[in-house]
Amino acid sequence: MKIGILTGGGDCPGLNPVIRAVVRKAILQGDEVIGLRNGWKGLMGKQTMLLTLDSVSGILHRGGTILGTSRTNPYKTEGGVETVKKNFKELGLDALIAIGGEDTLGVATKLAEEGLIVVGAPKTIDNDLNATDFTFGFDTAVNIVTECIDRLHTTAESHNRVMVVEVMGRHAGWIAAYSGIAGGADYILIPEIPIDLGQVCESIKKRHNRGKNFSIVVVSEGASFNEGYLALQDQDLDEFGHVRLGGIGNKLGELIEEKTGFETRVTVLGHIQRGGTPTAFDRVLGTRFGVKVYDLVKEGKSGRMVSLKGTDIVDVPLIEATGKLKTLDMKLYDIAKIFFG
Ligand code: F6P
Repeated sequence: MKIGILTGGGDCPGLNPVIRAVVRKAILQGDEVIGLRNGWKGLMGKQTMLLTLDSVSGILHRGGTILGTSRTNPYKTEGGVETVKKNFKELGLDALIAIGGEDTLGVATKLAEEGLIVVGAPKTIDNDLNATDFTFGFDTAVNIVTECIDRLHTTAESHNRVMVVEVMGRHAGWIAAYSGIAGGADYILIPEIPIDLGQVCESIKKRHNRGKNFSIVVVSEGASFNEGYLALQDQDLDEFGHVRLGGIGNKLGELIEEKTGFETRVTVLGHIQRGGTPTAFDRVLGTRFGVKVYDLVKEGKSGRMVSLKGTDIVDVPLIEATGKLKTLDMKLYDIAKIFFG
């Protein structure tokens, strides 16, 4: 078989382990794998690279994606879908593996419905994809943020300060909750619950009254004071209709200092969270997804996606993953709340 593979959307640690696993298993079985450069853009422009044992050697521990990525959406480009279908045929592809988040897999779902053989693997540091317990990239991001919170603790303590840490996660509080719990945050603010500034400040004051001279507040980039009013870096939408989130940390820091009188500093972690080497967990999850997604191709299971359920790798309909956002499990937030203040 001739199998195409692409990575779309924001990059994340663990993409290269998936690519490596697909290529290794495919070559072992006598199949050929063609990489499409920069997400759907590569299929639209026939930008390809032959993936050999050599090209995937030494990439297991590397972050990012050797294929490149973009947020190109063929459904938002004039004639995009027709071009994709035509190129699929002209490149002689028997099947396509799309590795991505909600948006990339949304396109994969539609193309599979239109008759192309397309299967998917879920990635995102945000862990907001339905139909899988975890996406790879999330564990790495959580570990990076946890280490940063540990580092912020010592400087916060030395200066008697409140430290606000803004983390990624888009409209779901997974990164904030996991890293906040792991890092011992004194308050965690998530997109799922509007921020109650009075409560945050009360909690910080209470903590200081019982002798603690510093506090760590983790805030998710998608959190807001009122439902629907998000802090944005700019108003421009990408091809999948997303705005650039960010800025809530600075606003929150300013208000906490004003209302509590405690000196406050803000750290915006940004893309540090998705760069660099994947954790062992993400390397193993990516490898397991890669092997399974290749098996789906061989079994002709178009329109399916690999997924982690408990400790098993299974396959689910692509549409289940993209139909609805997986927001934070509130049972986890209830645990986090025990440690506020
Ligand atoms: O979806 C992953 C993610 O890193 C989000 O957490 C974040 O909001 C967004 O991508 C940032 O994307 P970019 O800066 O690449 O447009």
